[in-house]
Amino acid sequence: METMKRTVTCGDLRVDRAYQTVVLNGWVHRKRDHGGITFINLRDRYGITQVVVDTKTDTVVPAAATVPDLNAVAAELRNEYCIAVEGVVRLRPEEMANPAMPTGAVEVLASKIVILNRSEPLPFQIDDEINASEDLRLTYRYLDMRSEHIQRRIKLRSDVTFAVREFMIKQGFYEIETPTFIKPTPEGARDYLVPSRLYAGKFYALPQSPQLYKQILMAGGFDKYFQIARCYRDEDSRGDRQPEFTQIDIEMSFVSRDDVLSITERLMRYVFMKTLNIALPERFKRLTWKESQEKYGSDKPDLRFGMELRDFAPYVEAGGFQAFKDALAGGGGVKALVVRGGADYSRKRIEELEAHAKIYKAKGMAWMKTTGDAAHNVALEGGVAKFFTANAGDIITGLDAASGDIILIVADAKRKIANAALGAVRAKLGKDLRLADPRAFEFVWIVDFPLFEFNEEENHWEAAHHLFSYPQEQYHDMLESDPGAVLGDLYDLVLNGYELASGSIRVHNPELQKRIFSIAGISPEDAERKFGFLTNAFKYGAPPHGGIAPGLDRLVMLMAGETSIKEVIAFPKNSFAVSPMDDCPCEVEQKQLDELHVVVRTP
Ligand code: AMO
Repeated sequence: METMKRTVTCGDLRVDRAYQTVVLNGWVHRKRDHGGITFINLRDRYGITQVVVDTKTDTVVPAAATVPDLNAVAAELRNEYCIAVEGVVRLRPEEMANPAMPTGAVEVLASKIVILNRSEPLPFQIDDEINASEDLRLTYRYLDMRSEHIQRRIKLRSDVTFAVREFMIKQGFYEIETPTFIKPTPEGARDYLVPSRLYAGKFYALPQSPQLYKQILMAGGFDKYFQIARCYRDEDSRGDRQPEFTQIDIEMSFVSRDDVLSITERLMRYVFMKTLNIALPERFKRLTWKESQEKYGSDKPDLRFGMELRDFAPYVEAGGFQAFKDALAGGGGVKALVVRGGADYSRKRIEELEAHAKIYKAKGMAWMKTTGDAAHNVALEGGVAKFFTANAGDIITGLDAASGDIILIVADAKRKIANAALGAVRAKLGKDLRLADPRAFEFVWIVDFPLFEFNEEENHWEAAHHLFSYPQEQYHDMLESDPGAVLGDLYDLVLNGYELASGSIRVHNPELQKRIFSIAGISPEDAERKFGFLTNAFKYGAPPHGGIAPGLDRLVMLMAGETSIKEVIAFPKNSFAVSPMDDCPCEVEQKQLDELHVVVRTP
């Protein structure tokens, strides 16, 4: 077959190429017939160029024999046929120019068209945005990704990945690969397991992250490591989660927390400037974990809007509402959220918000509205207002409420629940009321996380991040006596309400590591079996070290203004961890199972 290789791409042509003969390769994006003249929008990943088939025009002088051919070929063309076009670039008449298209001032008058491949009728139309169900898009991902929408996002991902490598290498980091068949690493999710053929009943795990291996690289003297690392976690799918995803994994020796935060800030600044031409601030905001919980009821607050949670406790005593008093007497909290203009919320709307709070374990959500015609004449009305007539003025002033607002209140004997439930209502209102500027990027560091969390179901302490994070020095004496009070050298980077990165300074001292295992209820035998290779490596002068891992998919998702990481992954799994295109996971042949010593128990 004749290939007719391209001499230009479909995004190249401008007026300065007029009258040149060119060859284009690409896909038929649209075809319009205008009585003898055919217009073809030819597309490749660089753009779209208009091709004209006009055998009547006298600007082309094709060999007589080819004219009918050209007409016949043009007539056969359908959307997504892959073709080669040879022709002359000509200026479009002024009224026909399309300023919205970079190539819109010119067109190519075809003298020859070769069909490189035909296309069957399409399952969906390929537009800038594909209008089809997610599963259909994923089944035909190769068509879906011809859309400008996916093309732009995959390009951004490539640009971001390149910028990361460029920055890290310039800063003296080595990119080092760690294995993908490993001993399980504890990141809190289930492992994907790979059965061993050679050792019946033994399994490799796919890494949830390169955590232990990057720490061992520090013991091995590679003091600045990074890796664009594939990670695998068997956990329930969410918009910002995939079973396999990519981290920008970073570890450094001889550093303190601020060194890690600083290199991450500089990395983000470099990537945003290089790929989006956006200048980020020199330093990102910082909130302690506690402040973040108190003000936003979350450890990943969206700071693109305010609406902070307020403490309602000072107003409880003077009021007559027993449930609030009980919550405080039980050592809990009473938190309030003032929603501007919420005084016109219907009962149904309030119940909807209350239902949302209940998902986060709130027992209920109280409310009252502010009414009045002027700032000095504001009063509380409705809901629990009748219990607070005595101190209504204090409440209104103290909470900075104005006429026309609604005050939402959650009380709970567990302060954590009051914060989290009202924080979830804040986040929902932020979305419903579109309070956040979609073009803004608000980074915030959350620091000083508790090192341990109490697992109420299993009734024991466990690591809040992972077992290798360093307790801040001032708590070393009380690790065993009051684990709940211990703050760790842990940090998260949050962007627009998403956890973008997590990291910590690590434990490098085997004795301290043993104490942490013991508090988390891991017996010395278990610790030896699971993590012995790490603790052994630390016996030989391992350096102090720390690191972080921003999620690459989440970063690109947020940069692209998306809310699903599937939009920035070439071949994502659907919400059920399935790839509809190649039908994976799938059953395998009995012979393969036998070789792997695997017996399948069908439900
Ligand atoms: P962590 O488990 O918090 O930390 O993960 C770090 C970052 O990885 C991204 N991420 C995900 N992205 C998509 N899908 C998922 N299922 C998924 N899970 C996590 C997030 C997250 O912030 N080893 C530590 C890091 C360290 O301590 O250095 C770790 O993996 O953006």
